[in-house]
Amino acid sequence: MALDADAIRSRIPALKSGSARFDAPGGTQTPQPVIDAIAEALSRPLANRGRTTEGERNADDIVAEARGALADLLGADPRGVVFGRSATQLAYDLSRTLARTWGPGDEVVVTRLDHDSNIRPWVQAAQAAGATVRWADFDPETGELRPEHVEAVLSPRTRLVAVTAASNLIGTRPDVPAVAALAHGVGALLHVDAVHYASHAAVDLAALGADTLVCSPYKFLGPHLGVLAARPEFLETLRPDKLLPSSDAVPERFELGTLPYELLAGARAAVDFLADLVPDAAGSRRDRLVASFAALEAHEDALRERIEEGLASLGGITVYSRAGLRTPTLLFTVAGVRPADVSRHLAGQAVDAPAGSFYAVEAARRLGLGDEGGVRVGLAPYSCGEDVERLLAALGGLPR
Ligand SMILES: Cc1ncc(COP(=O)(O)O)c(C=O)c1O
Repeated sequence: MALDADAIRSRIPALKSGSARFDAPGGTQTPQPVIDAIAEALSRPLANRGRTTEGERNADDIVAEARGALADLLGADPRGVVFGRSATQLAYDLSRTLARTWGPGDEVVVTRLDHDSNIRPWVQAAQAAGATVRWADFDPETGELRPEHVEAVLSPRTRLVAVTAASNLIGTRPDVPAVAALAHGVGALLHVDAVHYASHAAVDLAALGADTLVCSPYKFLGPHLGVLAARPEFLETLRPDKLLPSSDAVPERFELGTLPYELLAGARAAVDFLADLVPDAAGSRRDRLVASFAALEAHEDALRERIEEGLASLGGITVYSRAGLRTPTLLFTVAGVRPADVSRHLAGQAVDAPAGSFYAVEAARRLGLGDEGGVRVGLAPYSCGEDVERLLAALGGLPR
């Protein structure tokens, strides 16, 4: 079943600005039902969570509905869904909690492919605990991070492996279940950064083999917040810092302060929007989400192939997104023109494609691009063939 990009586009007010948008890996534009859900949450009585007053019940219901929606999206148990300000904040909090049990001789594995959000929190927590950091490399020629790359740095002292499910820089989708099997084989935990992956594929916490996983709804049509998913039984074993009077239940134990109820309402609406990308799909919300992502992958892959063809025919362009399995996120450079100047030229033609290393600084350096990085073109459910032709025409007109 195909995805109707025009129908999707008609429901996203920001697209009326007229730009062809390729900046979705940095954050997507927001559909009207998500905007409405946020406004509605704030328009009705709202209080701290409880069951006595209407305002309390509204807040409580919003949280329960959001946990249910994100659980459907991530293939998780609603009791294992934790909300936070961002994926970065959740990774920092988790790293500090886990590191309490690490000490000298223990080892933590991070990868050169990851966004810094899935590197630095672990590096700093390991340093504070006196543990050793081991780096899994990737192949800059192919863009692949293979299970063997991780295996090479595992040992019986490995306590945690942190790996991305998809690179926000070059789109590589490592074989996470294979990495999970290796990590678990030496008794380590696996933490997965699914921030980029969750925009393009149906996440399944158990199938990935992740002990913990983070994502960010603003990357998939929702508002700006972060989500952590884990098995509730695993969360029960952790003792994060928290206030004395705040709930010690799971998952509330991990949620510091008052939750942003209006954003949770928006996140729920974003999941419902995603579940309806294929209008005639049937079944549970999880079933419909899986159908939506299958249609989305087909839609985005077709557009990506057209971009790749176009870039190849322009000449003088090096594309760094080369892995066998990857998201529709293309990083490229143009011979003789700095990435920021390419991006500026495109912006002048109302084509939004930013340049940089996008916080994946280790990966950009390993690719030989330094912190300047490249130009990144990413797709979203609202991307369409006309956008792609505008991108290619604007690049064709680049003064070189
Ligand atoms: C792969 C990846 N991980 C982590 C992050 C950080 O997410 P957040 O902004 O929610 O902290 C990003 C944001 O760009 C990302 O692309």
